[in-house]
Amino acid sequence: MANEQRDVIDVLEQDHREVEEMFAELESLRGAATEEAKSRRKDVADQVTIELVRHSVAEEVLVYPQVEKRVSAEEAEHARKEHAEAEETLARLEKLDADDPAFDDELATLIREIRHHIEDEEGQMFAHMRQVIDDDELRRLGSRVEAFKKVAPTRPHPNVPNEPLPRMAAGPAASLLDRMRDLATGRGTDD
Ligand SMILES: [Fe+2]
Ligand SMILES: [Fe+2]
Repeated sequence: MANEQRDVIDVLEQDHREVEEMFAELESLRGAATEEAKSRRKDVADQVTIELVRHSVAEEVLVYPQVEKRVSAEEAEHARKEHAEAEETLARLEKLDADDPAFDDELATLIREIRHHIEDEEGQMFAHMRQVIDDDELRRLGSRVEAFKKVAPTRPHPNVPNEPLPRMAAGPAASLLDRMRDLATGRGTDD
């Protein structure tokens, strides 16, 4: 059926594929010389930041608590730690122009961190979730993740702990402010 609700793992894996495509484009633009290519690189870096922040906060609020309760507290903790590290990288990257020599290094760090994290999630965590959470529940979780991403923050907030309650407490104000800044600056407009 065309509009059957996707389960949460399909939703998250689709996000991962989109992020990987953006990484591939960013790598192909590394060391870009023309103004056009430089500005494209900044735009794609903004897009990938928006996508990674929404995706990660949705995982922290909706998915990792289930992993913690039903799969393994250690796996959830490990994933939150990787999110926290990547969020620090995103925050450093956000402050840099594509011209800045540090931009390439931070971008390379981000790509390495996220590729590793995706491997952990897809290679272990998601398979473990499928073993203990039934299909209906995975689909319901998928629809909650999709809805949540629409109102999630779009910028890194490394000072907010990567846990559901602090994320929810900071969420509405952070999210609204992020989205107002995005509208004011035209950031992420082709999303
Ligand atoms: Fe993920
Ligand atoms: Fe994650």
